Amino acid sequence: MSPVNRRDFISRASALGLAPLAQGWLSAAQTEEPAEPATPRAFIDPQFRVSRLDGNLFGSFLEHLGRAIYDGIYEPGSPLADADGFRTDVLAQIRELGVPIVRYPGGNFVSGYNWLDGVGPKNDRPTVLDRAWDTIESNQFGTDEFMEWCRKANTKPLLGLNLGSGAAKQAGDLVEYCNLAKGTKWSDLRRKYGHEQPYGVKHWCLGNEMDGPWQIGHCTAKEYGLKAADAARQMRAVDPSLFLVACGSSGPFMPTYLQWDREMLEQCYDVVDAVSLHRYFNNTSETGGDSRHYLALNLSMDRQIEEVAAVCDMVRGRLHTPKRLHLSFDEWNVWYRATDGDGHKQVAPHLLEEVYNLEDALLVGGLIITLLRHSDRVRIACLAQLVNVIAPLMTNEQTVIRQTIYYPYAWALHNCRGDVLRPVVESPTYEVPGVGPFRSGGLGRVPYLDLAVTHDGESGKTCLLVLNRDLDNSHELEVIWRAEAPTRVLTSQVLTGTDLKASNTFAEPNRVVPRALDAPELRGTRLTLQAPAKSFSLVVLEA
Ligand code: AHR
Repeated sequence: MSPVNRRDFISRASALGLAPLAQGWLSAAQTEEPAEPATPRAFIDPQFRVSRLDGNLFGSFLEHLGRAIYDGIYEPGSPLADADGFRTDVLAQIRELGVPIVRYPGGNFVSGYNWLDGVGPKNDRPTVLDRAWDTIESNQFGTDEFMEWCRKANTKPLLGLNLGSGAAKQAGDLVEYCNLAKGTKWSDLRRKYGHEQPYGVKHWCLGNEMDGPWQIGHCTAKEYGLKAADAARQMRAVDPSLFLVACGSSGPFMPTYLQWDREMLEQCYDVVDAVSLHRYFNNTSETGGDSRHYLALNLSMDRQIEEVAAVCDMVRGRLHTPKRLHLSFDEWNVWYRATDGDGHKQVAPHLLEEVYNLEDALLVGGLIITLLRHSDRVRIACLAQLVNVIAPLMTNEQTVIRQTIYYPYAWALHNCRGDVLRPVVESPTYEVPGVGPFRSGGLGRVPYLDLAVTHDGESGKTCLLVLNRDLDNSHELEVIWRAEAPTRVLTSQVLTGTDLKASNTFAEPNRVVPRALDAPELRGTRLTLQAPAKSFSLVVLEA
């Protein structure tokens, strides 16, 4: 168990008044009084483009934690495993999802991980105590197994480096092991272990949550920034083509939030490509259990993105450099029930096995809208995590099931293509009460409807994602195209239900699943759709 666990730290920071209490975590725009339209409307113009959608915006994360790797994706001896020990049913689900990039091997785990323990003949690999999660780590799954798993899952790696207990040199060694063809100590070690071809790993995280006292090797922002710069230089000497993510703040609850980002960037701005953001949402301390408030929390993710981007740009200005940093939102999800991270020195213990309900899925839908809204700046994002541990997929020995949050994630992966557009949305609003440790008072008004739009010029397909935060009423939304209106509705589905707390379980895996949305009407340049109370909808149209 880490000396201070993340959740304890959040509560302590809040109790001490260290959390950014007075900041009002909803978007500043929400504090203005918008004109209340009689009916919600959204205007779409393909010229109003946020970005070309980056393939890495809907990535995910697998950590050596609980049953994510062992008994999650890797279970040798199981009738469901292939010759490599990979769970074929889980692989099939992940391939079907089409996850573009997967962060690995942590998380907190990475800060105590020696990657050399996880390569070579399996019989020779040491069994060690993972001190981040107090768990026995057999090292039977390591870097080479992950690369092979990525190949089979049809995804790319986002490799985490140990900048906690590990040295910058070891980071460079791992890049050499993974990316150099041959003729050096580490590339030849990979070949000796049976992997002739280099992996060509492009995306790397320079450590994990180094601002957090719970992190192995926690240090000051300046110390971390210097170490990250050293690692980045050594890694780029091996392979100049890398995309490197520096560790930003662990979240807005940190007393050093934004200050950490500024101080560490002052040391490493020139040699990194992006800064990481992390965020886990809850329907307790942040909201007092008020679901109307909970469904508005994606707006606080908008604000977090804008704030971290502002700090990056401030450092850029002070350095007089033309280089603009990207953001990597490489941990985001709902997480607040299964928070005990103590593995009690067990192998693959049941840790962080959060069971998600309908309202969590609706918020995840909202968080996806937020990521799309900021897709010009957020170039990588990872739903944390993918299997068993705070995850959309859950396994037991016999099967794998889809949790509620699987559905909005799958919709985004399957349907968002091409350009992300910026719709102009007019919506009636509601008051969110100012409760919880991250709040200081009235939060102003929040729109009932939130919306994201993508448009793929090549296929002519347009995708609308619509969140209705109204718990009691459906809303008729009129969508008006200013140009290039589609001609046909291809699909319309909705995730909704009467019970916000309903979940999927192994006994009842299809309790919360999408259903057809009452046919939206498309007349000329106008589409009318009924967004049911407490719902997240998908509409796909074609030209
Ligand atoms: O995703 C679970 C944990 O949350 C990760 O290990 C850590 O980075 C974060 O605190």
